[in-house]
Amino acid sequence: MTRTLACLFILLAGPLVAQDKAFTLHAPAMLVETGFLKHLLPRFSLKTGIRVTFVETDTDASIGSEGTPVFAQGNTIWHLAKTDGPYTDAFQDWLLSDVGARTIEAFAPNGTAMFSADVGAVAVPDQVVITGDTALGEAVSLQQCGRCHVINDTNRMNAIGSSPSFALMRTFPDWQARFETFFLLRPHPAFTQVTDVTAPFAEHLPSPIAPIEVTVEQIEAITAYVGSIAPADLGDPIQLQ
Ligand code: HEC
Repeated sequence: MTRTLACLFILLAGPLVAQDKAFTLHAPAMLVETGFLKHLLPRFSLKTGIRVTFVETDTDASIGSEGTPVFAQGNTIWHLAKTDGPYTDAFQDWLLSDVGARTIEAFAPNGTAMFSADVGAVAVPDQVVITGDTALGEAVSLQQCGRCHVINDTNRMNAIGSSPSFALMRTFPDWQARFETFFLLRPHPAFTQVTDVTAPFAEHLPSPIAPIEVTVEQIEAITAYVGSIAPADLGDPIQLQ
């Protein structure tokens, strides 16, 4: 008898708990019609116990053209816009995880994957308003980066040919993100310190070349300066104005 009761309890508790862990989602018809969400959402729910309900308005989350890029369909990047909360956060984290990526790419109704988890190649990150001081940025760039990179005409002759010029890098759709994080991108970590941000070079790995040190404020200034220069015209020999 006790056992029967326990079973009953579990049976009843199951749906109740599941109901608590839920959020509402909206997606455009053109995405729904692919059948992709019927593939994606049950797998997410299975992994996390979070139920996703489809509604038209007042949703906790929606898939569309705004928010975080989560998957690509040809040249279209689908984004997730959401309110903050443990379940919507879990959905975004899952979409961006390795398991999520594999699930996204496993949907192949005609034998080839219809969606890709690789949104980096085409996605253009939101460009935040740049507030740095461009004059300071130019000065710091020439002083700290100009050993290797052509910053502008004034150091064209002193830079290293193998380093891309700032005007060339300005053409990358995600140039801003790259400049803001350049100290994490090779080759810089080996010789770059950001004041109060990076850990000191390990004793057994001293900087192989004269190190550079910049502050967060200087990185903002460099980014603002790069934002002010004309992207290189890749159709012609590179011109710096
Ligand atoms: C010692 C030489 C050197 C110095 C100094 C240097 N860089 Fe670089 N940087 C490079 C090289 C080489 C590359 C190209 C790496 C590649 O193609 O993989 C590069 C690439 C970059 C990139 C693109 C990275 C990517 O992966 O997209 C950015 C942004 C950048 N540098 C910014 C800076 C800034 C800002 C400074 C100064 C504060 C600076 N660099 C100083 C050598 C240097």
